[in-house]
Amino acid sequence: MRQKIVAGNWKMNNDLEAGKKLALEVLEKATGEEKAQIVLGTPYIHLTTVATSVAGKKGIQIAAQNCSDKASGAYTGEISASMIKSTGANYVILGHSERREYFYESAALLASKVDIALSNDLIPIFCCGEPLEIREAGTMYDYVKQQLTESLFHLSADDFAKITIAYEPIWAIGTGKTASSEQAQEMHAELRAHLASKFGKAAAEACPILYGGSCKPDNAQELFSQPDVDGGLIGGASLKADDFLAIVNAF
Ligand code: G3H
Repeated sequence: MRQKIVAGNWKMNNDLEAGKKLALEVLEKATGEEKAQIVLGTPYIHLTTVATSVAGKKGIQIAAQNCSDKASGAYTGEISASMIKSTGANYVILGHSERREYFYESAALLASKVDIALSNDLIPIFCCGEPLEIREAGTMYDYVKQQLTESLFHLSADDFAKITIAYEPIWAIGTGKTASSEQAQEMHAELRAHLASKFGKAAAEACPILYGGSCKPDNAQELFSQPDVDGGLIGGASLKADDFLAIVNAF
């Protein structure tokens, strides 16, 4: 059975104190018996403070929201995968649509980031998803499959086995307009079949595919009840411990 994962993506929210408070509240309220792996995707500034106080406790894992494609050196402002790993974080979110759009991250760059994350023992949560015009044109399956092809299909079978995918339709992110559970299921099943065509059925069946985009306590259960939806990547609702944990427990 595939691992269930609910990952919070705090995005660029919470200063040092607020982030620590939120993480500690999640830690305090989590029972340790959750049905899903909890991941907190924090800004870089929290990776040492939050990771040292929370990571590993009650099974909670920490994610960075990005990493450099370079190993080290004169790259002002960048944070490397090995630096992230050294804080105690085990995951890194890569290819979020906000990074693709606002920071011009290309498929080739993301392929490099996936490689360097894996070589530093970080689990990539690789994001994909279509904009509204692609959904309206009806070409969303080809569009999102191509995102996987371009940034993941160079991986070996062993490396692919470490990947988690998050499908996030851009039109649903932060808009309050979630994909229906049928839309999410159809896309996840298409993506799983596409992964199977490259890596084989067993590898594709083992790959967690999360849904992201206005996932809230009141719609999480319906989304997570779909056979190919293995959890969520949660933005706004991950900033409130109670809402986030309600989603974690929506299986
Ligand atoms: O990474 C998370 C997604 O962008 C979803 O954000 O839950 O605020 O719509 P949201």
